[in-house]
Amino acid sequence: MRVSFKAAVKLLQEGDVVGIPTETVYGLAACIGQPEAVAKIYALKNRPSNNPLIIHCASEKQLSSYLEETPPYFAQLAERFWPGPMTLVMPIKSVSVPAIVRSGLPTAAFRIPAHPLARLLIEETGPLVMPSANLSGRPSATSPEHVEQDFGSNFPVFDGGICERGVESTILYWNGNRWEIARLGALAPSAFRPLLGERLEYFSLVKEKKEAPLCPGQLFRHYAPHAELVLFEEFPADAEGIVIGFTDRLYPAGCRLIPLSSSDEPETAAKNLYACLRQLDEQGIQKAFVDINMPDENLWLTLKERLRKAAAK
Ligand code: TXA
Ligand code: MG
Repeated sequence: MRVSFKAAVKLLQEGDVVGIPTETVYGLAACIGQPEAVAKIYALKNRPSNNPLIIHCASEKQLSSYLEETPPYFAQLAERFWPGPMTLVMPIKSVSVPAIVRSGLPTAAFRIPAHPLARLLIEETGPLVMPSANLSGRPSATSPEHVEQDFGSNFPVFDGGICERGVESTILYWNGNRWEIARLGALAPSAFRPLLGERLEYFSLVKEKKEAPLCPGQLFRHYAPHAELVLFEEFPADAEGIVIGFTDRLYPAGCRLIPLSSSDEPETAAKNLYACLRQLDEQGIQKAFVDINMPDENLWLTLKERLRKAAAK
């Protein structure tokens, strides 16, 4: 159910949960100071309690009250990438962030979104916590329709159009020594190189088996449609059925294409990714092949990571 800007602000202030657009994906928002609403987010999504939420602020001023001191390069990262699809996980002032938001961790995740309506809203409501607006484990939502698919046609959604980026923010984690990429996302690792150079640790999440994961909730199967996904770099000539792939490639004769983009448009592929995965379920498709013949660079890394997680058994 689409609600106006004013109605969204009122619902949030009264302790309700509302679907909110951002430039990456839709979020399921609650005011940070409303613990019951935050608990409702976990219940609605069926989200494990060990998977913490991102705090979305409208400005650095809003954000600064949570931090004791900022890690090195914080100011430069914020200046360069905010507002935008970068999330920073940092140590916080004790008790400034309710434990339920951060799953009891001594850190919290922050982002200033680029979507102008999201920022206007957060200026009115104060900081909003929001995970992606999808049932836990399912493809994220990049349109108001997607949010309604998962939470019902009566669920309040503020319509901000189709998300420009289409995949979640890139998460950087301050490990006390350097910044590490904890989740690939809409900003490619190479985007941070000019600023951080070799000081950026690439991929911390599952470093070594003996080490406890940074955030266990992120390890589960994610982004997955009901349909079985079969990933291919090279297609067997006798493959038959649905293919999620590229408009400028030829697939075996028995295949029907659900297009991501042409093979030189990673931004468009990212924008369409979750809609393509959701289309499988909308059309009652049981199984699909996915063309993952993509370069090991830039946004393609994010696309491949999402597809591998979506195909995990
Ligand atoms: O683009 C996005 O980031 C979207 C939009 C709505 O902003 N949000 C999003 O939220 O993707 P979600 O909940 O689907 O993913 C948030 C991830 C969690 O899975 C967790 O891994 C990480 O953020 N996270 C949050 N707090 C953390 C913390 N204190 N330590 C480590 N990871 C944390
Ligand atoms: Mg999510």
